[in-house]
Amino acid sequence: MESLNFVEKKVIRVGAEAVIKEAFWKNHRIIVKHRVPKRYREESIDLRVRKSRTIHEAKMLIHLSENGIPVPLVYFIDPVECVIYMQYIEGLELRNHPGAVERAKRLGNIVGEMHGLDVCHGDLTLANIIADENQGVWVVDFGLSGFNADLEEKAIDVHLLERSAASTFPTQTKKFFENFLKSYSETTGRDAAKEVLEKVKEIRSRGRYVAR
Ligand SMILES: Nc1ncnc2c1ncn2[C@@H]1O[C@H](COP(=O)(O)OP(=O)(O)O)[C@@H](O)[C@H]1O
Ligand SMILES: [Mg+2]
Repeated sequence: MESLNFVEKKVIRVGAEAVIKEAFWKNHRIIVKHRVPKRYREESIDLRVRKSRTIHEAKMLIHLSENGIPVPLVYFIDPVECVIYMQYIEGLELRNHPGAVERAKRLGNIVGEMHGLDVCHGDLTLANIIADENQGVWVVDFGLSGFNADLEEKAIDVHLLERSAASTFPTQTKKFFENFLKSYSETTGRDAAKEVLEKVKEIRSRGRYVAR
């Protein structure tokens, strides 16, 4: 068997939950997502949480890849150390991408297909979407995702995405969301999209109510 000799290079991101590193396996640039221990949790509970999220995220990535959704390929998983080794997506997070409004069209198809599989993302912000150089759009970070998603969970995805766009580029949010919804609706079908959008409106108004 070939040895799994990953050479870690640099830390790309230290998130709330995980450390993201760039690494190499032979000549392949890869991503290493390591869920690191959290001291505030009791040790055995902490290990259980990190391990189950790691396995859950890997399962979801594999499920989505198998169904043609553009997510990083999983190369290897280490459930003991709570690490996923995956495809490195070359590109820019959508929040930093100058062509984000245009890419919203492709994103609408992708999220529509995902919701068609009854999968919700759970944290659909512009930091978790990567735009590549070839008009491609990719989705990452499935730790909070769900199988068998219901209407409310799908609507929360759409709501979060809109809020994320609104805080990232306020003046272009409307166009971004229009582009997104048009292709989302083309993919899911108009009736399904209408139902989700009704729910989004309900969530929005609930948010306003809570804020007062
Ligand atoms: N496979 C990948 N390819 C390229 N960049 C990635 C990949 N996975 C994660 N990243 C980058 O690292 C950031 C954090 O990773 P993420 O999985 O979202 O973890 P966190 O739970 O910390 O948000 C992402 O926003 C993205 O910029
Ligand atoms: Mg993230």
